[in-house]
Amino acid sequence: FEVTWDIDSAEKEGFEHFTLKEIFEQPKGVRETLMRRLNSQNEIVLEGVTLTADILKDINKVYIVACGTAYHAGLVGRRAIEMFAKIPVECDVASEFRYRDPFVDEKTLFIAVSQSGETLDTLQSLREAKRKGARILSIVNVVGSSVARESDDLLYTWAGPEIGVASTKAYTTQLIAFYLLALYMGKLNGRLEEHKYFEMIEALKLMPEKITEVLDQSKEIQKLAAAQFNNEKVFFMGRGVDCDIAYEGSLKLKEISYINSFAIAAGELKHGTIALIEDNTFVVAMATQDKLYEKMLSNIKEVKARGAYVFAIAKEGNDQLTKTADEVFFIPTTLDALTPILSVIPTQLLAYYVSALRGNDVDKPRNLAKSVTVE
Ligand code: G6P
Repeated sequence: FEVTWDIDSAEKEGFEHFTLKEIFEQPKGVRETLMRRLNSQNEIVLEGVTLTADILKDINKVYIVACGTAYHAGLVGRRAIEMFAKIPVECDVASEFRYRDPFVDEKTLFIAVSQSGETLDTLQSLREAKRKGARILSIVNVVGSSVARESDDLLYTWAGPEIGVASTKAYTTQLIAFYLLALYMGKLNGRLEEHKYFEMIEALKLMPEKITEVLDQSKEIQKLAAAQFNNEKVFFMGRGVDCDIAYEGSLKLKEISYINSFAIAAGELKHGTIALIEDNTFVVAMATQDKLYEKMLSNIKEVKARGAYVFAIAKEGNDQLTKTADEVFFIPTTLDALTPILSVIPTQLLAYYVSALRGNDVDKPRNLAKSVTVE
């Protein structure tokens, strides 16, 4: 069956752009995607997933394949599945996966991630993996889309229709889908300890509220955007899962602001990028991970010493950062594995406000399409 959304009837509900409305809809999308899958005992029930312990026993590798923002969700998903289900995971962009004769067989679980479910490269990759015998699971937002129809297992995100070309709420709901899947698999194969499972579930349930807390601070980002929107020298850096968010934050900024922004693993700074730092280079430094915090602090000092203007995103309580960075945005505390759901939001808001201030067509950026159905 096919369900299509009536785009014309979708309203902006007082928001200036769909993109902003969709950023603010994230508490709802996340709540829906999560709560529809939890029963009263806090067990995960995945309706469209028929993966059993027996099937999972034979799976020795997971391949996550997607494009654009969905690929960035896959990077976080890779960490979650390795951490909780302890199965090796590879993550690839669909346009690369298709052409490199990947090691995929009957023991592979292939995960396609797609908001639209119609991205041609993703769909063709799925077909290629199927031909090689892999089991196909997909994380999709549009009900009845091609990717959804061609999969063995299906995990819908409940983001609702996403109109803005730059993907925001689809991304955070894809993260939720990945956390659920990783925890589900970890429980199924017995590699995830019970107390860790429940600790994660409890923390996940607090996410909608915590996202709202982040959105309540949107004025701070608006101010920062007003000061920096003409800065053409921008880059994002982070370590661990923060690196994945740096990639997504940078993509969002370039998509809708047209600023030539890029992202790096902060540890790579000294291997090239530091040569680009000059007075007032705008650096977005993601520093939410306890284990990597000190390392990030020294990376921030390195770019500061060369004149950069540093905007750091960190967890509440890491106050000494206010002395090192020029501006700090604090996200509420949570488990380190879950910070992406919160830390991506200030980067979305930054991209949005910068784009709007530059007078761009935020919802329909030049040269980009919501769904790319050609190669
Ligand atoms: C296009 C969109 C992006 C999106 C990507 C993948 O490039 O502009 O926002 O992330 O396609 O789309 P999908 O529908 O497969 O998630």
